[in-house]
Parts: sequence; C-alpha cells; structure tokens
Amino acid sequence: MVRDGRVVEGQHVASQNAIHAPYGGVVPELASRDHLVQVLPAVERALAAAGRALADLDAVAVTCAPGLLGSLLVGIQAAKGIAWAAGLPLLGVNHLEGHLCASFLEPAAAPELPFLGLIVSGGHTSLYEVRAVGAYRHLGSTRDDAAGEALDKAAKLLGLGYPGGAVIDRLARGGDARAHAFPRALLGAGEADFSFSGLKTSLADQVRRRGVPEGQALADVCASYLEAVVDVLWEKTRRAARAAGLARVVLAGGVAASQRLRARMQELAGEGLVPFLPPPALCTDNAAMIGAAAAVRFARGERSGWDLDARAVAPLPEVA
Ligand code: KG4
Ligand code: ZN
Repeated sequence: MVRDGRVVEGQHVASQNAIHAPYGGVVPELASRDHLVQVLPAVERALAAAGRALADLDAVAVTCAPGLLGSLLVGIQAAKGIAWAAGLPLLGVNHLEGHLCASFLEPAAAPELPFLGLIVSGGHTSLYEVRAVGAYRHLGSTRDDAAGEALDKAAKLLGLGYPGGAVIDRLARGGDARAHAFPRALLGAGEADFSFSGLKTSLADQVRRRGVPEGQALADVCASYLEAVVDVLWEKTRRAARAAGLARVVLAGGVAASQRLRARMQELAGEGLVPFLPPPALCTDNAAMIGAAAAVRFARGERSGWDLDARAVAPLPEVA
C-alpha cells in the first residue's frame, strides 16, 4: 500500500526462494501455482500492516509485463477481481518501470527527472535515460546473461544455493577482490552494451581445473568475481551518464541490494554525479515499487482497461 507515490504504508513480500532452491532456478509452473496460493493473503497482510481497508484505496496496481506469463496472469486476475469488487480503477505496470520508481519511495530522497537509470536484476541489465515515467531512451543492455544471473550462476558453480547473489555479496566482504583476474567485457570506448557470459565461463573453467574453493579461497573467488561485475557496472554507468549529460544516477533491481555495488556507486559522487540508492528491500522485487510507478500514472489520469493482459516481453516505451 503506497500513499502519494512516496510513502509505503504497508507491504508484504511472499518469497518463493525456498520453493525454487532445490532446482537451482525458477520453475515457472511452481511459481504460478504458489503465486495463486499467496496472492490474496499477501494483499490482506499489506492492508493489515497499513491499517487500511479496500475502501480506503484509490486504485489497484499490478505488474503486467515483462515476466513469466503464468505468474503475471495470476496477479492480473487477482487485481482485476479486487478492483472490480471494490469499484476501483485498475493500473497495469511494467516491472522495469516499477524498479526505477522504487527510487521515489521514502526514506531515500527522490531523484528529480531526468536521470540515468541502471536496472540490474536477475533477468535484466540495462541503462536508460529516464526523461519521465513512461518516456525512456534505451542506452544499452546485456547481450547475454544479466548481472544477477551471472551472480546466481556463479553461486550455483560454487555450491552456494539459489538465488546466490546475496550470498556472494556477503562472502565477498571477507575476501580479496584482487586475488583473481576475472574478465571485464565490452569496456571499449562507445560500447554501451554489457556481456557477463564470459565471466561465468571463466569461473566454470577455474572450478573445473582446481575444484570448488573453500574457506578463505572461496571468499577470495567471491570477492574477485563480484568485483568484475561491479567494475563493469560502475564504469559503464559513469560513461553513460557523461555521454547523455545526466548528473543523477538511479540504481534499481535486485543486484542494487549488493553492499559492494552500493559502496562503489557512492563513489560516483567523486565523478561529479549524484547517485540515488533505494534501500535494499526496495531494490529486490516488491509491490511498493509497482505502487510508486502506478501513483505517477494515476495522477496523470491513466487507467488500464478490463482487457489488461500479460506480456512476457515488454521493453520500456521509448521517446525519439
Ligand atoms: O529484481 P530482482 O529481485 O528480481 C528480478 O526481477 O530478477 O533481482 C533478483 C536478482 C538475483 O539475481 C539475486 O541474486 C540478486 O538480484 N540479488 C543480489 C542481492 N540480493 C539479490 N545480488 C547481489 N547482492 C545482493 N545483496
Ligand atoms: Zn525485478
């Protein structure tokens, strides 16, 4: 439950990590089935946390794209049912737009528009010039694995479970980031895209040759691997901000919860840029960020029709 597009009055995150962990990745059928079980209790919990009833709401917002169709459909049908029953308007929100709008939520200071947005999640790694909510200029994306995917695959190779981004981030704190020279791809001038598959292959080769490291050696591998990801994100973000003439830089998506990435992004201040980092709990997938995006669109008078549908692939809308 989000008020004024800025205040999180009540939120509940029903994590599915335990369900997918034995498989080392998301199993789509299990995801939609569990979503069906969790969705209405999660809404009830968020309302209870806010001390509100449906009658207090102005609108119901829901993620409609991009993502796994089964899970998106469950959410959309639930949102339609609630909105219809309560006589409220419905608003479909793009998941990536939601991540970017997490930066508008308290307690952090909200960035003014325009800004450079770096979205780093399990499925996406992209840089956008954000002119307004709904008006984006795509600057670059990963050509293969997303940053979070690279961390999750590394965690799997190292036997650290799923999803492993947070585990690698934690173990890296006790390691030496200069212990191993993992590759940093596509750092040539004018190159705005990312590539992380070579990094993963490099680790896979190392594990094949030397086995899975333990103790301090494991921490060193985690620190070195994470540093390779963070170095590329930092450098490309810095360059993109310069090239687009943008001073404000917004970090978004699950990987933005990484302590190491956050520390490095703070250093953008030394480059004359102003970094905005939503609190970690608002970086990983959550409903409040969808509410934040919906609030902007709702204030403009936008509404979705009852024919709102799910889309597996949905790039952010581009301006010329
Ligand atoms: O945005 P998100 O919650 O879900 C997607 O939309 O994909 O991002 C999930 C990704 C996963 O790859 C996960 O390993 C990574 O974010 N992640 C982290 C941390 N917490 C989640 N990566 C590094 N450090 C963390 N603390
Ligand atoms: Zn996400």
